[in-house]
Amino acid sequence: MTTTGFDAHERERWAGRAAAYTRSFARWCAYPVGALLDAAGVGAGTRLLDLGTGPGTVAASATERGAAVVAVDAEASMLAAARRAVPPARLVRAALPTCATVG
Ligand SMILES: C[S@@+](CC[C@H](N)C(=O)[O-])C[C@H]1O[C@@H](n2cnc3c(N)ncnc32)[C@H](O)[C@@H]1O
Repeated sequence: MTTTGFDAHERERWAGRAAAYTRSFARWCAYPVGALLDAAGVGAGTRLLDLGTGPGTVAASATERGAAVVAVDAEASMLAAARRAVPPARLVRAALPTCATVG
């Protein structure tokens, strides 16, 4: 996998942070999700790619609307949280921009 210094920094900063993020900033970040999905016209039948899904907030809301979601994140603890939040979504552990599978 090809990574940049920024990628490595991101991996390090998010490693094992899912529980703390879910308890704190995730709630704040969830606030505009409805408006975001409205603006994108997400509804039944939409195919949605959620990159950097974190604990799956956007993926969960889109799934509730009937969208088919593929959610991507590089951090294992985030994907574990997303798996609990969005069982129907297809979850992929990968790092952008290379999108090489990391686990
Ligand atoms: C702010 S958090 C989660 C944001 C989430 N979309 C939300 O609404 O709460 C950012 C997430 O992006 C992931 N991430 C950061 N850089 C990434 C990259 N290059 N490839 C894949 N995931 C990445 C991190 O692991 C982290 O889970």
